[in-house]
Amino acid sequence: MPPFTRHIFVCINQRPADDPRGCCAARGSERLHAFFKSEVKRLGLKGVIRANKAGCLDHCDMGPSVVVYPEGVWYWVGSEADVTEIMERHIVKGEVVQRLLMPDHPAPQKIEPLKKG
Ligand code: FES
Repeated sequence: MPPFTRHIFVCINQRPADDPRGCCAARGSERLHAFFKSEVKRLGLKGVIRANKAGCLDHCDMGPSVVVYPEGVWYWVGSEADVTEIMERHIVKGEVVQRLLMPDHPAPQKIEPLKKG
C-alpha cells in the first residue's frame, strides 16, 4: 500500500474541568476528529488521507487544534463546516484555508493538490 499523502492530526487531549489551560476535548474535538474521518470516507480518500487523534499540541488556548502534514499547516477548527472546508480546499485542492490558520503559524499560500492513485 502506498504511504498516506497527508496526515491530519486532531488534538483530543482532555483535562479536568477546573484546569486553567482548558483542553480541546472540552471544545468538541473528539466529535470533530470523527467528522474528519467521515469526510475522508465521503471524499473517497480512505487509504490516501489519514485523520489521527493526537495528544496536546501545545496550542490549548486556540483549540480545537489541528495540524496537517507534510505541509505543517496549523488550524483552529471550530465546527463541522470548518472540517469540510479544510477537507475540500486544503486536502483536495491544495488551498490553505487562511481564515482558520492559527496566528503564530504562517503557512504557504499554495500547496500541492491531492494526487490520487
Ligand atoms: S489540549 Fe489541545 S492543544 Fe493542548
